Amino acid sequence: MSPPLPVPPMALLAELTHRCPLKCPYCSNPLELVRASAEMATGDWLRVLDEASALGILQVHFSGGEPMVRRDLPTLVRHAAGLQLYTNLITSGVLLTDEAMGALLDAGIDHIQLSFQDSDAANAERIGGYTGGHEKKLAAARRIKSAGLPLTTNFVVHSQNADRVDEMIAMGEALGSSRIEIAHAQYYGWGLLNRAALLPSRDQLDRATDAVEAARIRLKGVLTIDYVVPDYFAARPKACMGGWANRFLNISPSGKVLPCHAAETLPGFVFPSIREHSLAEVWTASDAFQRFRGTAWMPEPFRSCDLRENDWGGCRCQAFALTGDAAATDPACEKSADHALMARAVEASRPEAALIARG
Ligand code: FES
Repeated sequence: MSPPLPVPPMALLAELTHRCPLKCPYCSNPLELVRASAEMATGDWLRVLDEASALGILQVHFSGGEPMVRRDLPTLVRHAAGLQLYTNLITSGVLLTDEAMGALLDAGIDHIQLSFQDSDAANAERIGGYTGGHEKKLAAARRIKSAGLPLTTNFVVHSQNADRVDEMIAMGEALGSSRIEIAHAQYYGWGLLNRAALLPSRDQLDRATDAVEAARIRLKGVLTIDYVVPDYFAARPKACMGGWANRFLNISPSGKVLPCHAAETLPGFVFPSIREHSLAEVWTASDAFQRFRGTAWMPEPFRSCDLRENDWGGCRCQAFALTGDAAATDPACEKSADHALMARAVEASRPEAALIARG
């Protein structure tokens, strides 16, 4: 008897491009970026949206790089909205002019998530490598609010700004955010390359956590604060992507269908191209999506762990990056034989180290 079909994914992350005016040293894009000439055309993305809707996907997150460098973004948003998909734009905001805001609003955008590199303008522009960017982001936030759209402000936290979490929350509140994300940097790709310079100390993490907890009490019922902590201080792994091929899928700028943003770092995989396969075929039948789906693939100690359907084995990309084995227990788990790697990385952190800017 063939295995039951997986439940449909909830959300699609459409990485329209890797082009971006910013150069953040923790960028989630791969080290090898897709060139503009290799990006999918508008027609390919329109078909992706049709197939996503037919597959049962409910939300589309337009991301990058900076998705606003794509001139066809309003066309894609309009198509998604026409398919009754919830549309979210994940943007740095530096290209969100009045005209661009009007086009997105007219196309039916539902929500915008705006990223900030810090509450301190000078440090934000140093981290993002974009002079004048902070003021443009503030103007973008005002445009989003004037348009009547819900705004999420996102702050990526690391050793070089972690002492300003209070100010970040105050800034998000003053801008009228309905949600604030305080997200510690994740250490894949560019973040892993810059890990020594970015990993906070235990004291910094504790102070950041205290600031978030105090603000959550103060702002209860007013706005939501999401808090993402670094795995390097955890005792249990996170349920990365809600489990491999469980709830989400990514499509890269060149059309590769991926279970997560870092999947292309894993050896021994062939990730199908949406130019050659249907989304339904990839989700239900591809080896890449089935390899780590569910719990049957898990080694010990995951296999007998009571929490295996909570964390789904943690992060496969982190397991590979730190142990060289994508099927290994995520070192974030205290039961992993490699758990000490995390503490060693924290000990080796050097906030004074030079940052390598995203290419
Ligand atoms: Fe790939 Fe976590 S980033 S599984």
